[in-house]
Amino acid sequence: FDVVDLIRTKRDRGELSTPQIDWLVDAYTRGYVADEQMAAMAMAIFLNGMERREIKDLTLAMIASGETMEFGGLGKATTDKHSTGGVGDKITLPLAPLVASFGVAVPQLSGRGLGHTGGTLDKLESIPGWQASISNERMQEILRDVGAVVCAAGSGLAPADGKLYALRDITGTVECIPLIASSIMSKKIAEGTGALVLDVKFGSGAFIKDQAVSRRLAETMVQLGADAGVATTALLTDMSVPLGLTIGNALEVRESMEVLAGGGPADVVELTVALAREMLALAGLPDADVEGHLASGKAMDSWRAMIAAQGGDPDGTLPVAPETHVVTAPRSGVLASQEALPFGIAAWRLGAGRARKQDPVIHSAGIELHVKPGDAVVEGQPLFTLHAEDAARFERALESVEGAWSIADSAEPRGPLVADRIT
Ligand code: URA
Repeated sequence: FDVVDLIRTKRDRGELSTPQIDWLVDAYTRGYVADEQMAAMAMAIFLNGMERREIKDLTLAMIASGETMEFGGLGKATTDKHSTGGVGDKITLPLAPLVASFGVAVPQLSGRGLGHTGGTLDKLESIPGWQASISNERMQEILRDVGAVVCAAGSGLAPADGKLYALRDITGTVECIPLIASSIMSKKIAEGTGALVLDVKFGSGAFIKDQAVSRRLAETMVQLGADAGVATTALLTDMSVPLGLTIGNALEVRESMEVLAGGGPADVVELTVALAREMLALAGLPDADVEGHLASGKAMDSWRAMIAAQGGDPDGTLPVAPETHVVTAPRSGVLASQEALPFGIAAWRLGAGRARKQDPVIHSAGIELHVKPGDAVVEGQPLFTLHAEDAARFERALESVEGAWSIADSAEPRGPLVADRIT
């Protein structure tokens, strides 16, 4: 094929055939198709979209560009979750061991955070000794013995996506449903999971803010899962307010352990339970007593085993920031707003996130929220506490939350956390 012909086809709203897509992805991965040509193709797809069959072909071609994992020998059902990311989204931490406590394997290949959304690996690395990188053999062993693994995805899975995603990032072609759906799903399917639950977020702290667009992404990914033979369900969830009461790595680990101990904030528990039910239903356990395993300590036992299996000390002391700054209520009333994105950016400015891929994160940094929208507050009461290694970071963090919260006489009722379920 001639790549210029393929670009023209897409530019003129035509469809690419299966062999054309296979060839394009393979040639791009090997370097025969240049970045500028693939950038033109990505922009043509961005502008003109793709048919369902083309999205499936693109996904399968990206999977075929690298290695795939296989968990058939485990003798257990496997199921995984992917979240499109948000502020205070620590759900993987309680969810993976909770699901594993029912004898289902959860191979969770995760990433690091970039920008205001945190990465699961960064959070777990707050735990003394815990290692994100493990061999494939060790991963199989842990899945067999413990059930849950959260580890770094090797660059061997869907390398075409790695290359294309980096190109999209610098060519204004990230925000495109066919490209996002194939990118996320190629990595998840290559990872070898038998079933998949997607947490697709909308609202200010989400990657896609508009609920209708998020819904289209969720529908596209659920169809794609079905087309590729991986049973997939999606929950459409609200990310306009931070999830839980903590934002920042070690703070979020602490909160996750509260959930595993049978406590924790109501919204984190609600979403953990909702996603666990979906994962277990896909694994053939629709009636699993999910709340029971949080209350009885079974999920906590599974967490302790999961952390220890990767070198972590489940009783280790989490890092605590030496500097704190408390913001108090200027008047009595009801907390009327608390916008996710500005709080996420503030946590990032405190050191919880990274600006460049190679930067380290500060595990102790972040924000502890003392109240949520709808809660009554009295003048002088603490609203939130900033945590940092260096007090010089407070000023910029405070600037970013200016106007992001408010106290009024009453608060608008919030919509449900789980807005919809797509199957
Ligand atoms: N996350 C991904 O992995 N890929 C995208 O394209 C967007 C978000």
